[in-house]
This record gives sequence, structure tokens and C-alpha cells, in this order.
Amino acid sequence: MRVATLTTSAFFAMQLISTAEDIAITTRSTALVVRINDGQNPRIVHFGKRLAHQEEYAKLPDQPRSTEDYTGLYNSAYTPAGSRNLLEPAIQAIHADGNPSLDLRYVSHESIQGPDTITTEIHLKDPAYPFQVTLFYKAYQDEDLIEQWSVIHHDEPSSVKLEKYASANLTISAANYYLTQFHGDWAKEMQPQESKLTAGIKVLDSKLGTRADLFQPPSFLISLNQPAAEDTGEVIAGTLAWTGNFKMDFEVDPLGELRLIAGINPYASEYVLDPGVDFKTPSFIYTYSSEGKGLASRNLHQWARKHRIPHGEGNRLTLLNNWEATYFDFDEKKLEDLFADGKKLGVDLFLLDDGWFGNKYPRNGDNAGLGDWQENQKKIPNGIGNLIQKSAEAGIKFGIWIEPEMVNPKSELFENHPDWVVMLPNRVPYYFRNQLVLDLSNPEVRKFVHDTVDQLLTEHPDIAYIKWDCNAVIYNAWSPTLKHQGNFYVDFVNGFYEITSDLRKKHPDIPMMLCSGGGGRVDYGALNDFTEFWPSDNTDALERVFLQWNYSYFFPSIATCAHITEWGKQPLKYRTDVAMMGKLGYDIVVSEMSPDDLKFSQEALATYAKIKDVIWHGDLYRLASPYENDFASLSYVSPGKDRAIWFNYLVNNRYQKGSDRAIKLKGLNPEATYQITEINLYPGKSSALDPSANQFSGDYLMTVGYNPKVNADRSSVILQLEAAK
Ligand code: DGJ
Repeated sequence: MRVATLTTSAFFAMQLISTAEDIAITTRSTALVVRINDGQNPRIVHFGKRLAHQEEYAKLPDQPRSTEDYTGLYNSAYTPAGSRNLLEPAIQAIHADGNPSLDLRYVSHESIQGPDTITTEIHLKDPAYPFQVTLFYKAYQDEDLIEQWSVIHHDEPSSVKLEKYASANLTISAANYYLTQFHGDWAKEMQPQESKLTAGIKVLDSKLGTRADLFQPPSFLISLNQPAAEDTGEVIAGTLAWTGNFKMDFEVDPLGELRLIAGINPYASEYVLDPGVDFKTPSFIYTYSSEGKGLASRNLHQWARKHRIPHGEGNRLTLLNNWEATYFDFDEKKLEDLFADGKKLGVDLFLLDDGWFGNKYPRNGDNAGLGDWQENQKKIPNGIGNLIQKSAEAGIKFGIWIEPEMVNPKSELFENHPDWVVMLPNRVPYYFRNQLVLDLSNPEVRKFVHDTVDQLLTEHPDIAYIKWDCNAVIYNAWSPTLKHQGNFYVDFVNGFYEITSDLRKKHPDIPMMLCSGGGGRVDYGALNDFTEFWPSDNTDALERVFLQWNYSYFFPSIATCAHITEWGKQPLKYRTDVAMMGKLGYDIVVSEMSPDDLKFSQEALATYAKIKDVIWHGDLYRLASPYENDFASLSYVSPGKDRAIWFNYLVNNRYQKGSDRAIKLKGLNPEATYQITEINLYPGKSSALDPSANQFSGDYLMTVGYNPKVNADRSSVILQLEAAK
């Protein structure tokens, strides 16, 4: 009888349910059960709700269906390629002697309990070769979330070639599977599309290198049996923590099970692994919800705030960015005026965007200067230090834009170090936004990128914010210095992480925005070190309702930057209300605002300061989808359920469209009595809501609901709910 390694704690014994052959990886309400059969093959026999009686895991059938699995590997926990397996593999390797097959058998497993987690390691080995894989499952108890990765290691006489090296391989069992994926392009990121999976393999992937999510992010929802609903049904939300090429295979196998394989894209990435070296895959992060998409999102948000994003449970700064106000055209005088404008508006910080650097090749457009991180003498002759001092005198913090991984061919950096750039020999280089990518697989280049940012922060300790941009994909993939070109894409991303994690260690408190020419880089790999992300350059508030709605499936509001700009035709109140559902900022010419607009914005910032705690740290409930209604409605409920901030936005301007009936609230305390107040009204406007009928129990609001009266005259409405003390 095989027994899992157990600690002595009774709690642990309760959590780690192990029978003779089953390894149950459990959270508060979910279980992933890996069964080791006689042939020592690790197979997934259950993923879903946790069973109430642990002894019943043993009753789970080996295979959910009675038809034949010819190989015994269809539901493998990490499917090796070659030999008898002919399905899509999780791992494929060519041994040192050229043998292209792999077999992985169970050796042992153990579990380690952390304060909020239980990490289970399952050790596998090829019986014929010194080649091992350890599967790691870190189960976050309260968030019902599993973070899974693998470590591949061998001690063969010479290097092994890894042809595929997934992070996770799950088997999911249902009658039907509905995949919600998200696709897009610049300014139209995160467009959802749901489809029923059919027999065969559906692939979501990126081969873009950097800015890898431009067309598709590594995040998806799988709904079991029926299309995904907000509050009902079984939904799995998954996302790969990898800031580069990814591949997710969704295979409905010959038995009708869903085999899900998620990891780095092996495209052009045959990885040469030397003996004795650990190859660690990125984490695949997933949560199972039996209460629809809503709970899956809240699980992810809670996990991200508590365990992943730096200062995820902390504070953020409101800001005024100058990109759309000035583009590349500014000087010290203009900036000083903008500091004063930011102060007058009432934001915490001024963020200086692109264009402040380059002398031989000044950065006056996107075709020159990238890489030359010295202040432009014409625009800012007195340097960054002086700008910081002037901003402090104006009473506002100072932040700065940088795109340190990139280079314009028209730059001194390129002239001095052409071998630092990702560029193919014998080919004319192909540019994206007139720029090329620095080769982060080269340690010398990594040092340059690291030191560029580090020196900026060290020389100017009062820099209070970094916006880190990344505007090009990797064309011309080739490292001038790397021995094995197949390692390039992987080493590039790991090089990026080496830089950002060193910077995060050295500058633990600096807020850093992850930006990529819009939302081309939004993943939980980078969000290890970045405090927030830029979802899209599209700041048209109507579009943002949809964009932010879709990002909200995976990412919490505290990390979702939302700026008020001149994009779109929506009134300032609407634009402000939309930005308020995320981390609010401005990119607007304050000096051109009308007195009423300025007054409204000043008051809005004061209001935001009072409600941001609920928005940033509360639980998100999506109440009415803009895809199914003429309006969108969503609320954030404080952890203690004593406050809620409820956002409503009209998304259809046709005649008499709006919320013509009550919308049911969610997540409130049924016993509490809530006072409803409309907030963030434009100067001179009063609320259309009945002040004599504004107190309701949580039970009433969740059962009957309340009509926020969204219509063409009230195209956005924010309500505050406060429980009587
Ligand atoms: C792309 C970003 O998304 C914009 O916000 C701005 O920073 C520009 N790059 C600057 O080049």
C-alpha cells in the first residue's frame, strides 16, 4: 500500500487525503485527484468539487467512460510523447542517445504545508533513462486555486533536446465543453468568443515573442456541460503565467474527455537542456468554480491580490499622464505647467511619457532615440532631477515612462552594440514601430537593461512610478550570441524575469505599470513584479466598459489601469465613472477643461479617494452584462459586506434604452440594511432616484433588486451602498 508522506498535524492529515493509490490535491472546496495505477502511471481521475467523504476518492473509476483507452495514458497527469502514446503530449524529448521516446512513471510524492497553501510534488522518472520530471501543485486553500508547474531534469551523458515542455496537463470530464477565448489586436484587445469544443484539438497560442498577447492572451474559461453563466454551472478559469509564446491545447479525446495541455509554445523552441540543470516551466494557474464565472473571477482576484501582485492588498496612485496631451512635443515649461495642472486636478502623481531622451538621435517621434536613456538636452536641459524637484514644489509626485528592452536602429545604442539586438544574419531586418528588440538572452544586455532602470531609480530615489512599455513583437528571431537558438524564446523571457525580479527586490515599493503598446502583455508572470497593467490604448469609455469587463474575468481592479482621455464621444462623467471601476488616471489637457468639468473632476478624485478601498480590495460581482443588455452593471462589495460601490453604464444609445427594471445585487449581507446614495454627480445635476425609498435589506436587494435608472440622460450611474451600523 502506497501512502503519501504526511506531516503529523491533524489539519494536514485532513487536507491531504491519500488512499493506497490516490493523491488528492485539495483546496477548501475543490479536488484534483491523481491516481497511480499498477503500471505506475499518474492519471487524473477527478477534477472538480471536493468530495465530502475522503474515503470515496477510492471509488472513482479509473476512466470516466467505459469505452477503451488503448494506451492507459489518455488521462495522464503529464503525457509523455512517443512509445505507445499517440495523443498530444505534455512533454516530448530526444534523449542524449537520440531515442525520441519518453516514459514517465511514478516514483514518490510528498506534500508541504505553507501558511495558506499545500504544495504537492509528484516525482516521475523514465524507467530506461536518468530523466526525471517533478510535477508541482500548489493548492491555495482559501482561493480554491491551483498553481501548477513542472521541473524537468536529467543526468544523461550529454544534453537532451526538449521538444515540448508543458506546465500542466489536465483531464476534465463533462458531456460538453465550452471554451471562452479572448482575441483582438491593438486597441481592441480581449474580445471574447465562446464556442463548443468538438473532437480533435483546438489551439490557443502566441508566437509573437514579446508583446505576446497582442492577438490573444494566455487566459481562458472552460464551461462544463453548458455555456458559461455568471453565477451557475461549472467553470474553470485558467491562465498561464508567462510573458512570451504560449500554447494551450484543448483536445476532446476519443473517449470524449477534455485533455488540456498548457505551457510555453514549443514553436521554434527545441530547448537544449544540459545534464544536471533544472528546467522549470512557468506556472499554469487555474481555479474551478461550481458557481459560474463570477466565483472563478473572485477566486483569481483574491489570489492575485494576496499572493501574486506586489502590494496587491495595498495602495495605488492616481495620476496625470502627458502622452495624449503632448505626445513627443514638450519642454520644461510645458511640463511644469502640467505639474501644476495635475496638482489642481488633485491626482497623486504626474507621469512623464515617451520622448524625454536621446540627443544624437532625439526622441521626437517613434523612429529614433530608443535605447539612448539620457535626458534630451533641448527638451529638458536641467534633467530629471530638476523635474522631480519642480513637481515636488508643485505638490505632486513624479513618475516616468521607459521602454528598456527596445532599440531604434537610429540610436547610439544600436551603433555601439549591433550584436545586442535580436536580428537574423543574411536577412534585411523587419521592424515593428521602427524598432528592434534587445537580446535578453544575452547576460551583458540584461545587465544594460537592469542597470538602465536601476540607475534611474537609484540616482532619483524620488521617482514614484515607472511605466514600462514594450511596443514591438520579435521579428527576425535570432540571438547573435546564443549557442542554441532553440533556447532563445525561453531564455529571453526568463531573462526579462531576471531583470524585473532583481529590480523588484531592490526597489520593493516602486509602482510599475506593465504596458505593451496597449494590452499586449498582461499575464501573471510579469505581474509578479509589476503592480498594475495597461489594458489597451483604446480609452474610449464605451469600449472600455467591454474591455475592462473582459479583463475582469482574470485580473483585479487594483491592477487594471483606466485613464480618462479624449477618446470617444462619451461625456466626461461617463468617462470618469468608467475609469473609477479600475485604477483611475487621467491623460487629458487639464488647462482646456471647462470650469464645470474641472470642478467635477476635482470632486470625482475626492470621491474616488473615499471609495477606492472598496473598488480595489472588494469582491467583484458582475450584475448585468453589456453583451446581453443595453447597459452594464457591476459592483464591488467590501470584505466585511458593509459597503458596496455599484457601477452602471449605458451601452446602447437607441431610443429609450436603459435599465427599465430592477437589477439584483449580489454578495451583500442579507441581514443588513443598506442606504443607497448616488455619488459622483456632475455639478448642477441631482439624482433621479427617490430619496424616500433608499433603504433596503441586503435580502431585498438580492431578491428583488433596485433600478439605478440608467438611460440616455443618466448614461452612467454610480451608487454607494452603506450598511447601517
Ligand atoms: C504605447 C503606450 O500604450 C502609450 O500609452 C504610450 O506610452 C506610447 N506607447 C508611447 O510611445
